[in-house]
Amino acid sequence: MKVSSFLYFANFWLKTVLFKKKDPILGTVILTDRCNLKCKHCSVNNITAIMHPYPQIKKEMQTLYKMGVRILFFCGGETFLWRDGELTVRDLVIEAKRMGFMIVNVVTNGTQPIDLPEADLILLSLDGDREHHNAIRGDTFDTIMGNVKNATADNICFYMAINQINKDAVRDVCMIAKETEHVRAVSFNFHTPYPDTRNLLLSTEEKKAIAGTISQMMDEGAPIFNLKSALPYLVNNSFPTPCHQCLVIENGKISVCGRCIDVPGLCDECGYFFVAEYTLLFKGNLKIATEALRTYLKYV
Ligand SMILES: C[S@@+](CC[C@H](N)C(=O)[O-])C[C@H]1O[C@@H](n2cnc3c(N)ncnc32)[C@H](O)[C@@H]1O
Ligand code: SF4
Ligand code: SF4
Repeated sequence: MKVSSFLYFANFWLKTVLFKKKDPILGTVILTDRCNLKCKHCSVNNITAIMHPYPQIKKEMQTLYKMGVRILFFCGGETFLWRDGELTVRDLVIEAKRMGFMIVNVVTNGTQPIDLPEADLILLSLDGDREHHNAIRGDTFDTIMGNVKNATADNICFYMAINQINKDAVRDVCMIAKETEHVRAVSFNFHTPYPDTRNLLLSTEEKKAIAGTISQMMDEGAPIFNLKSALPYLVNNSFPTPCHQCLVIENGKISVCGRCIDVPGLCDECGYFFVAEYTLLFKGNLKIATEALRTYLKYV
């Protein structure tokens, strides 16, 4: 991370904490909900299957920038399927950097070739070893690992959503992250139980055991891009929600925190680690702040 970006974020954090401000810093643009997969835990694929056109995406990026967002994510659907004529997600990342976003990340299922050196992080969903991953995401593990091997930069971070199917595969994903070239780290989420996937929800006891594994793997030096001090809050769903510093924009509609903000009661069972980590950070939790500083400087 550049020193200028670091100072910008430090100043933003201080102002937010001291004056209890609710200004946003992290924004996500949904490029499309079209997807080539139909993962068992996912409720947001192929609802409209519309590819939002470049002028609209660019306007949404400008809107977020004007609102103060400096950390930008592109998400979907599948981001690597996004096209407008010759333009791909790589052109969007380059444009976002040109606009002045300080960190630009892309979330992908990894099934397409990966040539995106301009992104700060490519969050690539890997939901277990071959057996568990394929049980959730279809027969894609080998294709994905081939694409990771042939990637053109070392900016990949695995992204694992832990649920009833793959709860025993956390250690495997940590080991794969540690041993695979081009992969910097792994970042976790617990399953967030949308109404059509409640069967995959983890109990508090199960989350506690998984948090123990993650914590132990951190102690053993596994490259985990999460904050240990946030784990107890995630286990008990005792972190504040929603995250006012995060915005999502999809087809012109801006939501605070996530697209899921409209699902009644879901925030009380939220499994997204970024929500716990960001809300605790911006509440002024000093343990979280120190750990966030260390972790971000290491992996971004
Ligand atoms: C919706 S996908 C979109 C990007 C891309 N298609 C992918 O799979 O990475 C973004 C991330 O959300 C995760 N996800 C989907 N449904 C979830 C849920 N109910 N709870 C937690 N994470 C979920 C996916 O596993 C993926 O890592
Ligand atoms: S690849 Fe991503 S968007 Fe597509 S179904 Fe799976 S989680 Fe959902
Ligand atoms: S806190 Fe609520 S809106 Fe935010 S990600 Fe979780 S469920 Fe979605």
